[in-house]
Amino acid sequence: MNSKKQFFNQWAKTYDHDVQTVGGPFIGYDQTLQMAAIEVKSTLPEKGNLLDVGIGTGNFASLFASDTNIHGVDISDEMLNQCHQKFPNFVLKEGNFTNIPFEDESMDAVISSFCFHEVERVERKAALEEVNRVLKPGGTVCLVDLMFASEASMNDASRELADKWDDSEDYALIPEVDTLLRLTGFQHITCVQTARCHWLITGKKK
Ligand SMILES: C[S@@+](CC[C@H](N)C(=O)[O-])C[C@H]1O[C@@H](n2cnc3c(N)ncnc32)[C@H](O)[C@@H]1O
Repeated sequence: MNSKKQFFNQWAKTYDHDVQTVGGPFIGYDQTLQMAAIEVKSTLPEKGNLLDVGIGTGNFASLFASDTNIHGVDISDEMLNQCHQKFPNFVLKEGNFTNIPFEDESMDAVISSFCFHEVERVERKAALEEVNRVLKPGGTVCLVDLMFASEASMNDASRELADKWDDSEDYALIPEVDTLLRLTGFQHITCVQTARCHWLITGKKK
């Protein structure tokens, strides 16, 4: 089994508890998701189709109204099991950011929280092309993640967080994601810092 899938399968049962207690880069988790959900809700039509990529246990998608049709993709079947137990109405499929198992132009919004940095750097453009493919024209992309405005800001955070910082992670910088979104067919891009290590980036498919 792929080692990333194995890692998240093992984490699935304690994930919800851990994100509330582990601190470090996760500080502000609830606030960040709530701020992002407010942004995306204002763009969704009634009974809209929403896809959460790297849905995990479903915490971000759960903040959307009950009339939204929620779909989720994740590489981890154990995360999807946890999500299904909490939210049996969600349509869940095993899949990957770079190979999303949904139809072209089927979604009004694609959201993703704390997952984009898990995609290998060389695959990030392909991942955003997949997001673009499944979105309807004018649809919204919303990426929430551990991201930084600059190398200097990331280095400051690693010093501040000390032993809570994970050197093995490859976090994206805001200018890089902004550029990738523009290259993959998005416009009206906005970037907002929501917590010490969290940014919210939204854009619209042309
Ligand atoms: C840190 S968790 C975030 C879960 C959830 N979105 C949240 O905000 O709590 C990262 C999730 O992304 C999934 N994941 C990692 N790499 C992925 C990829 N390439 N494609 C899809 N899902 C992925 C993991 O299995 C895990 O469920």
